[in-house]
Amino acid sequence: MSYSIERANSFIAESKHLLVDQYRLHYHFMGEFGWINDPNGFIQYNGEYHLFYQYHPYQPVWGPMHWGHAVSKDLVEWRHLPVALAPDQPYDRDGCFSGSAIEHNENLYLLYTGHIMTGPDITKDYYQVQNIAVSQDGILFAKDAHNPVINTDQIPAHTSQKDFRDPKVFVRDGQFYMVLGSNDDQGKGLILLYRSADLHTWEYVNVMAQSDGTLGDNWECPDVFELDGVDVLMMSPQRMAPQGNNYHNLHSTVYMIGKLNTDTGVFDYHQYIPIDYGFDFYACQTTLDDQGRRIMIGWMDSWEASMPTQNGHHWAGAMTLPREVIREGEHLLFRPVAELEQYRLDGLHAESFEVQGQQVLEYTGESYEIELNVDVTKAEEFAIHLRTGETETTVLSYSPLEQLFRFNRDQSGIGPGGERITSLATPAGKLHLRIFVDLSSVEVFLQNGEKVMTGRIYPQPESQGIALYSNGITQVQSLHIWNLAKPEQI
Ligand code: FRU
Repeated sequence: MSYSIERANSFIAESKHLLVDQYRLHYHFMGEFGWINDPNGFIQYNGEYHLFYQYHPYQPVWGPMHWGHAVSKDLVEWRHLPVALAPDQPYDRDGCFSGSAIEHNENLYLLYTGHIMTGPDITKDYYQVQNIAVSQDGILFAKDAHNPVINTDQIPAHTSQKDFRDPKVFVRDGQFYMVLGSNDDQGKGLILLYRSADLHTWEYVNVMAQSDGTLGDNWECPDVFELDGVDVLMMSPQRMAPQGNNYHNLHSTVYMIGKLNTDTGVFDYHQYIPIDYGFDFYACQTTLDDQGRRIMIGWMDSWEASMPTQNGHHWAGAMTLPREVIREGEHLLFRPVAELEQYRLDGLHAESFEVQGQQVLEYTGESYEIELNVDVTKAEEFAIHLRTGETETTVLSYSPLEQLFRFNRDQSGIGPGGERITSLATPAGKLHLRIFVDLSSVEVFLQNGEKVMTGRIYPQPESQGIALYSNGITQVQSLHIWNLAKPEQI
């Protein structure tokens, strides 16, 4: 049976009641049913945030990609809309892959990759083209009669003729530009830049950036934007080798700060930096909103990870919290959007106390935010144990001597384990943490967004304890815990 938007929408409506709630998140975005991956087409249009996403509604596993669609006024409470794109044309018949949205002549345009299989091997028998779809109401999208708008004959020499995907479109000096992820015949990831006056006809400009050999064998989901006087390039390199504590997931995400020359099409940069230091963060995309904020959302999972909700829960995949991107010199800070503060309910608040050994907190929960200011000058180790039960616990710890922060999920529950470690300076012994715990996720914002660690965990519902732990003395200056409301509870 062939795919269509109508078929997908009725299937979702008929199947939704089967969802198992156990690990469904309270204040993170998820699909209504089935599988989701990358955020797509993230944009503010007619006063609402629109989020599209890679979607296979029929099963909780990756499959022929549709674009799911939701809208929000505050980036926290999302309303699901009908599926926006289904793989129903010759130029996208095996998947409407990732892409972006842009407003033009008051219409909402989607630019996406059409995935076309040419044989049975999904790892190599395919090619990809770029397509557009347009909407006047932001809900129903018509695919362009002249798709594809960029075909394989516009791929330059020495560049993969297959991996050619994930268009992100932006405007510079009155022209549209598109970046696409690809790789070259040496197996190095790269980004191609195209230019257009009207979104329909595109000319190839140049290879905008390319791996120096340390940045993986293929680049996915590029994003380019101007921030506070500099240009930023973000992308998701595949199969990057680990470097010290960094890049231990199969696929990574990095950003570079530099300068894009739109005449030559070259992006000049000097270093690359991880976007997230945890386990589950990929294919992030940003948008600029009407408050002048650059907001980023990522897929809060990773391709290699086993996902327990795939077994009998009828769903898999979620988005990270929307994070504001702020420039600080040659670095970016990532902070949860301020709107989340409106979801704070009752909790626990304490000031000026010492922790030595273990201190179990008078608070339990599975969906909350912790904000903590501590002084670790006299501590050898400081830790927070979350989602703690008889046999389970998730450990976030800081070693002032090593200046290392750790996220350990070896005993978190039924999902994948492991530890991620990142270096973190604590000038004058001061450590600031914001930790967002949802039913099957943890996001830790270190030192006001200097670094972020994201990971999925799958504890038993009873594992709800929280404890502080200090080897030596940790001085807690302030501790706040807020139970976070489910959006529909507000
Ligand atoms: C990234 C990605 C994209 C592709 C999409 C397919 O996670 O591999 O490159 O467009 O997922 O679902």
